Amino acid sequence: MTAVGIDAIEIWTGKLKLDLAETFAPEKGEDPEKYTKGLGLHASSFPDAHEDIVTMGANAAHRLMERKGLKPDDIGRIDVATESSFDNSKPVSTYIAGCLESVYDGDFHHANKGERKFACIAGTQSLDDAYNWIKAGRNRGRSALVVATDTALYARGDPGEATQGAGAVAMLITEEPSLVALSTEQGYGSADETDFLKPNQQFPSVDGKRSMQVYLARMREALEDYESVAGASHPDDFAYVPFHTPFPGMVRKAAVLAYRHMIRDTPIEEDLAEEIGFQPREEDYEDREAYKEAIREHMDALGSTAAYQEWYDAAIEPTLDISREVGNWYTGSVHIARAAALKRAAEDGRDLAGEVLGVGSYGSGAQAEVHAETVRDGWKEEIDQLNVDEQIDDRYDLSFAEYENVHDRHNHDKSVELEDFTIPESEFVFTGRGRMNERTYEYVE
Ligand code: COA
Repeated sequence: MTAVGIDAIEIWTGKLKLDLAETFAPEKGEDPEKYTKGLGLHASSFPDAHEDIVTMGANAAHRLMERKGLKPDDIGRIDVATESSFDNSKPVSTYIAGCLESVYDGDFHHANKGERKFACIAGTQSLDDAYNWIKAGRNRGRSALVVATDTALYARGDPGEATQGAGAVAMLITEEPSLVALSTEQGYGSADETDFLKPNQQFPSVDGKRSMQVYLARMREALEDYESVAGASHPDDFAYVPFHTPFPGMVRKAAVLAYRHMIRDTPIEEDLAEEIGFQPREEDYEDREAYKEAIREHMDALGSTAAYQEWYDAAIEPTLDISREVGNWYTGSVHIARAAALKRAAEDGRDLAGEVLGVGSYGSGAQAEVHAETVRDGWKEEIDQLNVDEQIDDRYDLSFAEYENVHDRHNHDKSVELEDFTIPESEFVFTGRGRMNERTYEYVE
């Protein structure tokens, strides 16, 4: 069976940085450790004045096309996943294609373009669409370009302000990919929820605590649904488990839940029983509240065991390397978690080819999806090309007053002029608005 999956990946971070412990926490009168330890975040990325979801997506896609020696004719599909769109009709993919056409001979006139929306899970859904399109044999030998791009801004003063971020991930989906092949098996957990939404407004209405509960509930359902087709999963099955990462603290909660689920009725649970007892079973409790309390206590105990810590350090912690420096990228977030894990494996000199990743995506509203990915022979060469560390280091470090101006500059309801903090070079930039209020762009040499 032909393998289909991610052949290449490129990451573009917004070029500004807000240091959460040094700059944000003191202004809010909060302990910096709430951010570094509680949420697990050091900094958020923000777009410079000349950046937006189109420039970040186009710049990531351009770098990817240059590196892979691709021409527009090689791409038969461009899907953009975003929850920061500025137009209810014209998809961001047309803007990105327009940017790319300005620097290439040829065009994307015969490529199918769209925009995917389901909060943060839309990036993974776009991967699905590309996978299905190729598997259906409709691609005529061409590849699909998937771009997940977001500027995750919250209203100032909202608790979500601590978990902002901006950046794009471009992925090339092909047959016989170099990086990872996607499993046919996948599982969903999906329900009508009101945890985070933007009813025709730029900044989200968010019930943060509820969104965390919904994330965990839907993720568990997705894992169970995945297991119904792939068979029971075990912690040893996966080299890494990249989760959707709105902030690393959320993943810490998801990881212990997943571990508890995967070790149930295995020798690991038996070994741990001497130390922390067997997992509570609902049938042993008189009412649901008592059962839930017992589960909470058991999870706390499980999270402190050496067995769990060892698994977490190996399979989860490496997935957070990029996220903790850039914040929430919404649709791109699970894709930078995968990239971070593979990057860490390359740095550690691991031979990962043939090993499996368990990928857990989530979007508020709400839906989780779980699938597996098999690492391919060309993974290391591909990952070695990433320059995300340099991009992270090169960001301009904002003062709090500058951050407020940047937030206003990207507020669609405000019209704020702002000087660039960084000088654009070899990249697409936002130049203003045209006669029909469309956004305009150009490539700066
Ligand atoms: N040292 C160490 N940890 C600290 C701390 C300190 N000084 N102060 C607080 N913390 C911990 C808290 O205990 C909490 O951890 P816990 O959840 O494990 O208990 C964590 O830091 C966050 O603190 P909290 O007071 O809960 O933060 P908050 O009320 O400001 O809100 C969110 C946090 C995530 C709810 C908020 O940022 C939000 O709404 N984000 C957007 C929604 C989102 O991303 N949802 C995720 C699902 S997609």
